[in-house]
Amino acid sequence: MIEVGVLGAGTMGAGIAQVAAQAGHQVNLIDVNADALKRAQASMEKIFGRLVEKGKYTAQEAETILERINYSGDRNDFQNCGLIIEAIVENLEVKHKMFKQMESIVSDDCILASNTSSLSVASIGSVLEKPNRMIGIHFFNPAPLMPLVEIIPAVQTSEEVTKEARAIIDSWKKVTVLAKDTPGFIVNRVARPFYGEALRIYEEGVADFATIDWAMTELGGFRMGPFTLMDYIGNDINYTVTETVFQSFYYDPRYKPSFTQKRHAEAGYLGRKSGRGYFDYAEGAVKPEP
Ligand code: NAI
Repeated sequence: MIEVGVLGAGTMGAGIAQVAAQAGHQVNLIDVNADALKRAQASMEKIFGRLVEKGKYTAQEAETILERINYSGDRNDFQNCGLIIEAIVENLEVKHKMFKQMESIVSDDCILASNTSSLSVASIGSVLEKPNRMIGIHFFNPAPLMPLVEIIPAVQTSEEVTKEARAIIDSWKKVTVLAKDTPGFIVNRVARPFYGEALRIYEEGVADFATIDWAMTELGGFRMGPFTLMDYIGNDINYTVTETVFQSFYYDPRYKPSFTQKRHAEAGYLGRKSGRGYFDYAEGAVKPEP
């Protein structure tokens, strides 16, 4: 079984590492930020503690899975990987730098994948010596729970790499769907108006965050309201994705980003991960009534 690398131990990277370890792979989870690695490890231990309590795993099984994950700050640990999934900041320049470096570390047959939500996979892979090994593998948050994964071959991706990458993710008991390398792929494109229109409704003073969420869950049948969902995703990431999709569709006003979201991201109101977003997640905080 191949060794798997995950670059970025944030919301998505930690979840992807968990899924790969549960599927039996040795995983190298690498981040530049030591605190992010510590947080990922602590949260992983908590999650598996709960899974043991629920009877999903024995304590021994949980320990075996946890031991498969190597938390590290050293990208050289990627050298024996057959697949690396990058889940760092949604910034093309930073991703370019990382992909170039990773390619210089790994063997020729290692697949290099990005979990990008909105950047073009072709543009990320353009810096590689062997761009036919580049592919988009797009998980949803939280990665261990969400079954769908979009597989996005770029124009440079070889058919073998697409087949191989898809087979690996299928073997992780995920449901894969092939999508073209277009802004937002399938799900993020369909979801843009869900967030965008909710923000516009708020900005027009039609209703507040809690009321809009209440209407969408109680009356609309959605599992999560748009503001709760954006807080889950992270307002920094969600805003950047909207901006990229907007630019990529030649400034089509349907995808226009919102100042409300931009200001929340700038203020550090990122959502659950920072303890506050549209709602307050501090201990003891009371969610406002609709
Ligand atoms: P995050 O902000 O939670 O985590 C990013 C992590 O990457 C941080 O721990 C940071 O320290 C690390 N990092 C940044 N630069 C790095 C570098 N050069 N080398 C190593 N580590 C580095 O971000 P999140 O939400 O996990 O998103 C990551 C990627 O996944 C983005 O491309 C995003 O578009 C995509 N994505 C996000 C989803 C979400 O719901 N948050 C869903 C699907 C995809």
